[in-house]
Amino acid sequence: MCGIVGYIGHRDAAVIVVDGLRRLEYRGYDSAGVAVLNGHGIEVRREAGKLAQLESLLVQSPIGGPLGIGHTRWATHGPPVQRNAHPHSSPDAQMVVVQNGIVENFQPLRRLLQDRGYVFHSDTDTEVIVHLIHSHYHNGSERDLIHAVRAAAAELEGPSAIGVICQDDPERLVVVRLGNAGGVVIGHGEGETFLASDIPALLPYTRRMQFLENRQMAILSRDGVEIFDLDGNACDLPVTEISWDADAAEKGEYAHFMQKEIFEQAESIQRTLAHRIDFDHYRVDLPELNLSVDAARALRKLTIVACGTSYYAGLVGKFLIEHLARLPVEVDYASEYRYRSPVFGQDEMVLAITQSGETVDTLAAIEEARDFGVFTAAIVNAVGSQAARVCDGVIYMHAGPEIGVASTKAFTTSLVDMALLGIYLAQARGTMTAETHHALIDELAHLPGLVARLLADARQSGHYADLAARYGERHNFLYLGRGINYPVALEGALKLKEISYIHAEGYPAGEMKHGPIALIDERMPTVVVAPRNSVYDKMVSQIEQVKARNGAVLAVAEEDDAYIRAVADAILPIPPVHELLSPVVAVIPLQLLAYEVAVHRGADVDQPRNLAKSVTVE
Ligand code: G6P
Repeated sequence: MCGIVGYIGHRDAAVIVVDGLRRLEYRGYDSAGVAVLNGHGIEVRREAGKLAQLESLLVQSPIGGPLGIGHTRWATHGPPVQRNAHPHSSPDAQMVVVQNGIVENFQPLRRLLQDRGYVFHSDTDTEVIVHLIHSHYHNGSERDLIHAVRAAAAELEGPSAIGVICQDDPERLVVVRLGNAGGVVIGHGEGETFLASDIPALLPYTRRMQFLENRQMAILSRDGVEIFDLDGNACDLPVTEISWDADAAEKGEYAHFMQKEIFEQAESIQRTLAHRIDFDHYRVDLPELNLSVDAARALRKLTIVACGTSYYAGLVGKFLIEHLARLPVEVDYASEYRYRSPVFGQDEMVLAITQSGETVDTLAAIEEARDFGVFTAAIVNAVGSQAARVCDGVIYMHAGPEIGVASTKAFTTSLVDMALLGIYLAQARGTMTAETHHALIDELAHLPGLVARLLADARQSGHYADLAARYGERHNFLYLGRGINYPVALEGALKLKEISYIHAEGYPAGEMKHGPIALIDERMPTVVVAPRNSVYDKMVSQIEQVKARNGAVLAVAEEDDAYIRAVADAILPIPPVHELLSPVVAVIPLQLLAYEVAVHRGADVDQPRNLAKSVTVE
């Protein structure tokens, strides 16, 4: 949550910082600000609201200079008003600070600083940081920014990523990472160095990036970067060459990132599959998982931890892995897992699913498992993210940058990763028949083509915009699924509520008679996920029960299912596909429906109210 961008070099820092913030706005959009250092000292522009407000201010009142830092905010302490926008300045305007994270001890620090005479102008925890650094800077005869930042960092509790610039130090930008406060990425150019909370901000400028570790400090200059731990010892940090295409972080021909990301799913699934299946021998290989065949065979339990959409992907994973590899799987909200005392045994594995690789609760759950010496792995999208770095093994989604706050392609690619993991474990454990093995691998190979066709048909027909016009003013929706598609119903409901603010409840279809059936009337549409599979007949009877109570039914069903086509009010067509892979195609109509309903209602699809893509605070 919150995005930081910094620049030092030969170009106009404000332009680069604002451009980078535009690509990080998914991290928060309550306010934005930028500070640059030039011949007049440090100049700051801040504005409440989205980045566009700051851009207008900069047009009226431009600032220029070769060193700058900026921020886009997701409010934690204090409302989203101008006085709470970052950067925050020291009393003499000599230094400014931007922060991502939370200062947990900000109340005592604020009182301490007030006793020292500091006057606070905002409600934020961040303002204590700048005053604390300022206070250390002026404590003693020698004014040393690095020393002051280090001394302040030692007093701060809670996760924070902090960027600092100081008027007396015009050739340096200092950044510190304390705990899991979201990424800190350093980008290397020619005679220029960049800072950002995430890779997409820097893609137009450089592909050579470093990822700051917890309790490290980086001193950026135009010639490069020096990295130290908080005791002042020099650290080596590998430089990673990022292969993502710069266009991948642009909307291109699409109206919204979410729309683009929905329509990219055939290609992203193709990338997820690439190089992982040996079609000659029908084998799946996952070398980055670092789990030997012997270790896979010995496994006794798998625990999946995740949040949001990634948690629902984990529920599908449970179904897949238990079915294929006969391995008991537990799925837990990462935010709950860390607050109970999980029981660990020998030969267990904890698997995190996380698009960003920076979700604070998911990282804490991984740490909990690591502390017990359990093997940890992550299904992750963001290259170089904390989850990818700290886990023993990784399975990348290879979805490319996902910018829309509502996750789409990360969901389907993590389902494909889970299918690959299920097959990999089953191969090692000898729990899958050759027939299932071959059928699944053949179907995986066909999946990108099936998804491409589903999306092309949806685009051509305009069907989802029509559905949005018919149902987009309803106040409540019920989503039902069963078996492996029960989590798809949960995900469909989540998509709708996230971006259109319509109340939607996902339910296992078999539970409908234990409560939700009481809600059904002619005003409450029910979306059912009903491909022809092992629970098809049960889903058909659910449809009948809804219809008998005058409820409208929107059915995700196979395109040639004449029965459902006749009985349902609308069909959301999918191609037939192996039951274990059906969630990958079944969720796409639900993404399209949520997207079109949000567009119909005039909602801000990519930046839904109160949400942020990367949840780096508790
Ligand atoms: C936020 C996002 C969701 C995402 C969840 C978990 O709530 O808005 O789209 O599913 O975080 O994020 P992760 O990056 O860990 O998958």
